[in-house]
Amino acid sequence: MIFRYPCPIFFLSLFFVRRGWASSQPWEQYVYSPKFRSVAPASVKSISGDAVILSDEDGYVLSMNSGSQVSLDFGVEVGGLISFSYNSTVSGGTQVSLAYAESPSFVRSISDDTGPLPNMDYDRALNVTFAERSGSYTVPRANFRGGFRFLTINALQDVMLSNITCEIGFLPAQGDLRDYQGYFYTPNDKLLNRIWYAGAYTVQTNIAPQNTGRFLPQVKPGWAYNASLGVSTPILIDGAKRDRAVWPGDIGMSGLTGFLAHGDIGLTAVRNALDTLFYYQNSTGQFPFAGPDTASFHSGSQSNTYHAWTLISIYYYAIHSGDEAWLNSKWENIKLAVDLITAALHGDDLGLHNQTQPNDWARQGGGGYNSALNALDYQALTSIASLGAEVWPRNSTRTKQASAWSAAAERLKASFNSILWDSSSGLYRDNQTTSLHPQDGNALALLFNLTTSAAQASSLSRSLLRNWNSIGPITPELPDTISPFISGLEVLAHLTVGEASRALELVRRTWGYLLDSPLMTGSTLAEGITANGSLYYRSTAGYAYDASYTSLSHGWSSAPTSGLTNKVLGLEMTGWKTWRFAPLAGDLSEARGGFRTGFGKFDGGWKITNGKATSVEAWIDIPQATSGEVVLPWKCTSATMNGRAWSGTKVTGGGRKTFVGHGCM
Ligand SMILES: *[C@@H]1O[C@H](CO)[C@@H](O)[C@H](O)[C@H]1NC(C)=O
Ligand SMILES: *[C@@H]1O[C@H](CO)[C@@H](O)[C@H](O)[C@H]1NC(C)=O
Ligand SMILES: *[C@@H]1O[C@H](CO)[C@@H](O)[C@H](O)[C@H]1NC(C)=O
Ligand SMILES: *[C@@H]1O[C@H](CO)[C@@H](O)[C@H](O)[C@H]1NC(C)=O
Ligand SMILES: *[C@@H]1O[C@H](CO)[C@@H](O)[C@H](O)[C@H]1NC(C)=O
Ligand SMILES: *[C@@H]1O[C@H](CO)[C@@H](O)[C@H](O)[C@H]1NC(C)=O
Ligand SMILES: *[C@@H]1O[C@H](CO)[C@@H](O)[C@H](O)[C@H]1NC(C)=O
Ligand SMILES: *[C@@H]1O[C@H](CO)[C@@H](O)[C@H](O)[C@H]1NC(C)=O
Ligand SMILES: *[C@@H]1O[C@H](CO)[C@@H](O)[C@H](O)[C@H]1NC(C)=O
Ligand SMILES: *[C@@H]1O[C@H](CO)[C@@H](O)[C@H](O)[C@H]1NC(C)=O
Repeated sequence: MIFRYPCPIFFLSLFFVRRGWASSQPWEQYVYSPKFRSVAPASVKSISGDAVILSDEDGYVLSMNSGSQVSLDFGVEVGGLISFSYNSTVSGGTQVSLAYAESPSFVRSISDDTGPLPNMDYDRALNVTFAERSGSYTVPRANFRGGFRFLTINALQDVMLSNITCEIGFLPAQGDLRDYQGYFYTPNDKLLNRIWYAGAYTVQTNIAPQNTGRFLPQVKPGWAYNASLGVSTPILIDGAKRDRAVWPGDIGMSGLTGFLAHGDIGLTAVRNALDTLFYYQNSTGQFPFAGPDTASFHSGSQSNTYHAWTLISIYYYAIHSGDEAWLNSKWENIKLAVDLITAALHGDDLGLHNQTQPNDWARQGGGGYNSALNALDYQALTSIASLGAEVWPRNSTRTKQASAWSAAAERLKASFNSILWDSSSGLYRDNQTTSLHPQDGNALALLFNLTTSAAQASSLSRSLLRNWNSIGPITPELPDTISPFISGLEVLAHLTVGEASRALELVRRTWGYLLDSPLMTGSTLAEGITANGSLYYRSTAGYAYDASYTSLSHGWSSAPTSGLTNKVLGLEMTGWKTWRFAPLAGDLSEARGGFRTGFGKFDGGWKITNGKATSVEAWIDIPQATSGEVVLPWKCTSATMNGRAWSGTKVTGGGRKTFVGHGCM
């Protein structure tokens, strides 16, 4: 059934049926996804020239005289193929042209750019010539537009258009785009709920159908998105508008969001991206810097950090999917990739990795014993080692491998601290020769436990505040930039060491801006901004001062979604068939949420009553065949689990467990 009303949001309340979770819950109001795969514009943004707008049962009817212009607003980020019915007085020639924009500030007669040019007129408008005097038109497949909120129609002759719709391209094969498999809700803070759902929706717009990658060499003027994205689809890509490609660093963040918000759809999209990276793995063991059809892929670029990110993403995929057959089938390739790291660590006695392939997330500098690289290597080694040992405890070849990898990781960690820690600033340096204290290396070191004491971790967490301005941290390693990717790692890092209030403050500051600034889509998260909040991200560092090139729906910016679920609600997969429930309330008094893994559904929540934590109730509902740890942060004079006195942390067996504490602080 195709949706045919001008305002989709208005009719949402008519639909209650849910597959994932019970009906009509308070968090559903925060879901940004359209109800139907075919959506009509929600409102008119602007009209100029001689145009009249009426509506019929199929939505807006535009009567446009030559030279007029109408800009329509879909209300949220969408992406796909535009269709409409038309009548025209003349046949032949270009009747209308179509321009697409993500940001309200680029609603104009030409589109956002998907190639960077300082004068911002790379893509221009799609010229449309009607085949008949009247009929219906659908944008050609090759002109697929993956991310936009606004459509501007320029009339070049007198025309009448009706039944204007966008056939959504993302998440192919999912009928109900609003039927999420995960959720999060706190009654205490609407902004946090909106941010969780903006992350979830951003990643949804990044789950792409086949043959919608950016065609190279890029078409100019115009655009073509008809290139193959990988070995199978749907596939997780970096951004809705562009690059529309597989990028491993991005998956390290967007993959988690995909698992926690979209369950098996997220898992499939990540597996297809990982399978693509395996397909192109070099015989040396190295994973490509990026997926196919990217300039980086064609030039054979390699990256030490993105290689490690691929391994980390494999670990995250494995513990959320429980896909042992897949893991087993890839194990020899994984081993090759890990051995490439351990070989690099044996370059000298320190056991640190000398960064020789500094290609990375766009930061400057790099090289030497780079702290971000070594923190990523540490996590790759320890996480893959734990998988080998936990999944195949009786295979001595694999457990021995695992021990060797863990030993290399511990040696790395010792040197990391002796060579890179700068106690006078309370931060790690970028490498052994510089005084730069990067945000990426420090956030990653804190997140992946390169610190050796609680005091050091606390000092690092506090020292990172020195980068913050009123909307977020200015990244020392990429001047004039606030990076929601790296700041997202920082959010997770503060949460990992228990600094919930600090983390929530950063989420509200940066993600509040990303969601509510009038420059943005109001529904999805931008890839980056400048220190003053403008869209001139990477102005001199690759994007040629082309603010319309910046992607406004980039899954790598979605860290708060996993942070709120895994750390604030506190329900997290921590290894093979293992989980932890460790709430971190910060200034909240209540939260609940859940997600679906290959092992089944996880659900949980907590509530503090009577003001200062005098009474606490927490509950989880977890699959059989897993075991976990419950670490409640409250000290109570009496505590029970399912009605019986309880003081432990280990929980085995599935089902619902309710914890009640009295006299807590
Ligand atoms: C447009 O053309 C269709 C025939 O294709 C016709 O039914 C319709 O009435 C026309 N609409 C207008 C407003 O001229
Ligand atoms: C309106 O557009 C939709 C989507 O392109 C199409 O399926 C439907 O047939 C159109 N309706 C009319 C009356 O043309
Ligand atoms: C559309 O046509 C106009 C006028 O001929 C031209 O300037 C513009 O570059 C064309 N757009 C594209 C994308 O080819
Ligand atoms: C994709 O689009 C480009 C540019 O228009 C074109 O050259 C190419 O043949 C198309 N590829 C496919 C597979 O259609
Ligand atoms: C594999 O890696 C080696 C060493 O970095 C490089 O010389 C070679 O070109 C790569 N091969 C492919 C197919 O990328
Ligand atoms: C790191 O690699 C670079 C480039 O190969 C080399 O010049 C430098 O000496 C190496 N540094 C160390 C400490 O091994
Ligand atoms: C150390 O880091 C700085 C800043 O990233 C960089 O400019 C410098 O080249 C690096 N040193 C080495 C030896 O690679
Ligand atoms: C144990 O691991 C090795 C190395 O990965 C593998 O070749 C072998 O097939 C495994 N043995 C069993 C019984 O799975
Ligand atoms: C972090 O590493 C320290 C040792 O340096 C260890 O004592 C601690 O348990 C680790 N923390 C976690 C959460 O693994
Ligand atoms: C914001 O920063 C950008 C990039 O540095 C700069 O071009 C722009 O002028 C600044 N805008 C304001 C209002 O200061």
